[in-house]
Amino acid sequence: MRIDILTLFPEMFSEVLSSSILGRAQANNLLTIHAWNIRDFAFDKHRTVDDIPYGGGAGMVLKPDVVVACIEHVKAINSGKVIYMTPQGSVFDQTKAQSLAQEANLIFLCGHYEGIDHRIREGWVDEEISIGDYVLTGGELPAMVVIDAIARLIPGVLGDQASAREDSFANGLLEYPHYTRPSQFRGRMVPEVLLSGNHELIRKWRLKEALRMTLVRRPDLLKKRQLNDEERQLLQQVLADDCNERR
Ligand SMILES: C[S@@+](CC[C@H](N)C(=O)[O-])C[C@H]1O[C@@H](n2cnc3c(N)ncnc32)[C@H](O)[C@@H]1O
Repeated sequence: MRIDILTLFPEMFSEVLSSSILGRAQANNLLTIHAWNIRDFAFDKHRTVDDIPYGGGAGMVLKPDVVVACIEHVKAINSGKVIYMTPQGSVFDQTKAQSLAQEANLIFLCGHYEGIDHRIREGWVDEEISIGDYVLTGGELPAMVVIDAIARLIPGVLGDQASAREDSFANGLLEYPHYTRPSQFRGRMVPEVLLSGNHELIRKWRLKEALRMTLVRRPDLLKKRQLNDEERQLLQQVLADDCNERR
């Protein structure tokens, strides 16, 4: 996958996107990420990228001529859709990450200050994504969040792709709890079943704990999900455990 990012602060991306798993994905040519400085497309000697809003009011707005010059330059290299990061976009989730991970090319446009001239959104933006109902100073952190979530779903990026399949949200549930050595830590034991070596019992335990975690923390996810017979049975057991604990 090729990802181009249009930003006033390309330096923000270098450290984050070249570290750890994403860095390895780029070294292995599974992913190419390039951050462009919108300021390089300014037309005047002061390299102006923003201007005061028509109608007055606080803050500055990114200029359409400069931003569109940048978009058009990048579109000649990357044919992907242009995604504008904005709190007004549709809220990003794992389902969206899975669908964007199928794309071969993507372009992310990061706003700053009050945002971008609305005509850019009307004429040059294909999609708008928010990372949640709060307002950040710029689109850089949101773009990093979305790129990270997408990149780890590209086949080959994670060492073991099964881990992405079992992650929270991947199958509509939160993931089960994890443990590692030592088996006893300050009086707290690892659940015995995980030491049993019995793969079927471990699978069942994990499914039950995933259902428990989801029921307690995100019951809204359970309402949206069709449970199969085994999951229904295990959920009954979770509810029975809960009743017994309260007695
Ligand atoms: C201060 S915000 C502008 C907010 C804008 N005035 C509004 O009220 O919708 C500056 C930039 O940060 C980015 N941004 C802020 N919060 C965001 C969020 N929750 N999701 C995605 N992008 C966000 C956008 O690119 C936006 O153009």
